[in-house]
Amino acid sequence: MLYPQTNGSRTVLDLCGLWEIKIDADNSGKEKGWNKGFSADSQIGVPGSWNEQLSELGLMNYTGKIWYQCHFKIPFLLSEQKKYLRFGSVDFSAKVWVNGTFAGEHHGGYLPFELDITNLIKTEADNLLIVCVDNTLTHHTIPQGINENDYTQFEKQREQTYPCTVFDFFAYGGINRPVQIVSVSDCHIVDIIIHTSIKGKNGFVKYEVKCNQSPDGATLKIKLYFKGQEIVGTEQRLKDKNLSGELNIPNCNFWCCENPHLYQMAFEINNEENIIDQYQMDFGIREIIIKGSQLLLNNKAVFLKGFGKHEDFPVIGKGLSIPLIVKDFQLMKWIGANSFRTSHYPYAEEVMQMADKMGFLVIDEVPAVSLNFKYVTQLTLENHKNALTELINRDKNHPSVICWSIGNEPGIWGEEEANSEKAENYWQEIRDHVLELDNTRPITLPTSSKLGIKDISLKYSDILSVNRYWGWYEVPGDIKRAGEIIKAELENIFLIYKKPVLITEFGADALEGQHETYPQMFTEEYQTMLIEKYFEVIESLPFTIGEHIWNFADFRTSQHHRRIILNKKGVFNRQRQPKAAAFAIRKHWLKDVL
Ligand code: GCU
Repeated sequence: MLYPQTNGSRTVLDLCGLWEIKIDADNSGKEKGWNKGFSADSQIGVPGSWNEQLSELGLMNYTGKIWYQCHFKIPFLLSEQKKYLRFGSVDFSAKVWVNGTFAGEHHGGYLPFELDITNLIKTEADNLLIVCVDNTLTHHTIPQGINENDYTQFEKQREQTYPCTVFDFFAYGGINRPVQIVSVSDCHIVDIIIHTSIKGKNGFVKYEVKCNQSPDGATLKIKLYFKGQEIVGTEQRLKDKNLSGELNIPNCNFWCCENPHLYQMAFEINNEENIIDQYQMDFGIREIIIKGSQLLLNNKAVFLKGFGKHEDFPVIGKGLSIPLIVKDFQLMKWIGANSFRTSHYPYAEEVMQMADKMGFLVIDEVPAVSLNFKYVTQLTLENHKNALTELINRDKNHPSVICWSIGNEPGIWGEEEANSEKAENYWQEIRDHVLELDNTRPITLPTSSKLGIKDISLKYSDILSVNRYWGWYEVPGDIKRAGEIIKAELENIFLIYKKPVLITEFGADALEGQHETYPQMFTEEYQTMLIEKYFEVIESLPFTIGEHIWNFADFRTSQHHRRIILNKKGVFNRQRQPKAAAFAIRKHWLKDVL
């Protein structure tokens, strides 16, 4: 799926701003005809979650349907073009009407979708857009939902959170990323797939261009630029809707963390008289492979220094904020990180673009978080595969994306099904599905200490990702013992699987301003010391390929007595101010340059 772009042939109209909402607590909106318009309960900011921005309206912990409406006009000059309505994400499902006619729906949060509204809108006249958003999760959605009865059934009443979630982050609801109208020519480029490889100093770019039509006499022109300089070009007859080819770039400027060189690839569909459609995209030429217990980027071993993160900020919740994205990358650069995981769901497209520009190595994750195999069905599998299809379709051309993460901590509830043949077959199907879509990147599935090295899901990873909290949830308070245990466990895991090991989570909650002269949990010193102990162990082992601290910043979770409003494992607080650990980490990761 292409990122929206205004150019000589395409126009993007932005519908973000102040919309109106109506709360549908009793699920009666449709029968009341709200899909044709309604008298609003409130204004709301789009993009943005409804929870914190409308907590005074009782929406902080609201789970269910909320109807959105906005009015818009289309300029006459676009009347001859095809118009698509594009949502960057709606959490977690959306039904859409334009001028009272059903335009389509989408299920599954965190990823974009487009609806063809060409025949539904009027040019120069007022148009009414209605979206029914629902943030309800069920046993079969990705992420999975749970309810109060589940806690009782599992005799985990003390684990019950409010709202009920099986995962440790807040299930924000709303239109959390931009809403746009994309206007394109009748004949246009639908998708572009780029695969790069390197040999010596040469770069190779395999491309595939998918168009919706192949009109007689049309040609596809491709030009490749570096810093505005044309490097190579080609022109082919558009004899088929899909065209592919390969370009060779001698003395190539490879993409890497230190030098995230980006090339520009310009595509143009022409007929005898004029340009019909055009699209320009940035991309990097790099190669990522696993060799023994190492991860190689352009034939050089890389070590991933970074974080598990969340998209979470006061008031906007999970809503897109470009300045916040800039701030987070600046802080990751400041602290000496070169990598992060999009825990536990796909992040905004603008985050992936920043990672390309600033040279970060990204593990891109779908929200199959804490999958409880007692509830897994064929529908869960379909939803899981669909999330992967949409994620890979969206992020496949980013040089920064080096690995697909097919979930996080399955079986965290300790259900025996998680280590059963049912689970083995499930993960095999998921793995096969990813490889069908993209066999150029390794696959991983971060696991918890619940099943430890007996976790069968480790078999389906190319990189063994482990989330470990020795010194926090297990052997609390005892940093030395924690170090001994994690060292032995990592050596054991490698002995069994002989694959590279990435510690995808380790850390401790720290309350700013809490200090002690001895190792005291929840102090800033304890968080620092535990992280430093993990650094010492991880970096002492030859088969580890990285260390991702949990978490970059404090973030909101559902309410529970173990959470002081937020998960406080951030090395920055929620407003992005550093805790003591941030300075120690910076000193460690940048020791060669500071
Ligand atoms: C788990 C999980 C995280 C969670 C963390 C914690 O490993 O992957 O989502 O926030 O533990 O409890 O802090």
